[in-house]
Amino acid sequence: MFKGTNIDHLDKEIFEGTLKTRLIGRPSSGSNEVHESIDSTNTRAIQLAREGCSEGTVVLARQQTAGRGRLGRQWLSPPDSGLYMSTVLRPSQALVDLPVTTLCIGVAAVRSVFAIAGVEAGLKWVNDLIYDGKKLGGILAEMTAGDQNQPALVVGIGINIRGNKNEVPEELQNKMTWLEQASGTSIDPNALAAELCAQIEDVYFRAADGQVGRILDEWRALSVTLGNEIMVTTGSTQFRGTAIDITASGALIVETDRGKQEVTGGEITVRNVDGSYC
Ligand code: BTN
Repeated sequence: MFKGTNIDHLDKEIFEGTLKTRLIGRPSSGSNEVHESIDSTNTRAIQLAREGCSEGTVVLARQQTAGRGRLGRQWLSPPDSGLYMSTVLRPSQALVDLPVTTLCIGVAAVRSVFAIAGVEAGLKWVNDLIYDGKKLGGILAEMTAGDQNQPALVVGIGINIRGNKNEVPEELQNKMTWLEQASGTSIDPNALAAELCAQIEDVYFRAADGQVGRILDEWRALSVTLGNEIMVTTGSTQFRGTAIDITASGALIVETDRGKQEVTGGEITVRNVDGSYC
C-alpha cells in the first residue's frame, strides 16, 4: 500500500502534482529538476544557486553517484532506495546559521516521515534522523555565495526508504534503517518529497516570522540527544559529558567535569546502556 500515488520511484509530474506549497518546489522562473542519476543534488543546487535560480527550486534524483554527508562523508545513494533532495533558499535574517538551520530542517523531516509513514523518528544533534537507535536520514545544509553575492542556503535531505542491510558496507549494517522497514508500508517518494517541501516551507516561514525559538522547542521534544551521556569528537579532541540543552544558535550545551561547554561542530555519539557509544 502506497500512501500518495501507487508508485515507488520519483516522477517530476507526480511530484509537482502532489505539492501543496507556495514557495518550495514552485520557482518563479526556471524549474525543479528530477534526475535519473546525478553526482549530488546538493552540488547541483549550489550550481543553480550561483547561477541565480529562483528561491524554492528543488533538485531531486533517483540515484546519486557522489552523495555527500557531513564532515566530508559519502552518502550512500543507490537507485530508488532513498529520497535525495536539495532545495535552494535565500534567507534574509533567520536561518543563516547552519547549525540552527540544520536543527529546524530536522524538525521538518521528522514531521514528514510521520505524516507519510506514521514513523515517530527522533533527532540526534546535529543532523541525524534516528529511528530505533539507527540512522534513517540526514541533513546537509550548505551556504553558497549565490548570484551577485547574494547568499543562498542549500538544504539537502537524504532519507533511507528501502534497502537491504546485507547490501550496505559492513560497518553501517547495524547503524542504518529504512522507512519501509520502520513503517511496514510501501512509501511513495513523490509524496514524501512533497511533504518535505510543505514542512520545510512551514519552518522557513515561521523562522522568518521570528519563531525559531518555538521550532527549537519542538527539536528539544524530538531529541534523542538531550539528557544523555555523550562523547564529543572534534578533530583529534574527544571529551565526555551530558548533553543538557541547545543554544538559540543551535550549539549543543554539554555538562562536563570542567563545566559547561558549547559544541558547534564535530560529531557526537550517545552512550548505550552497555557503556558503548553509537
Ligand atoms: C549526513 O547525515 O551527513 C547528511 C546527509 C545528507 C544527504 C543528502 S542526500 C541529498 C543531498 N545531496 C547530497 O549530496 N547530500 C544531501
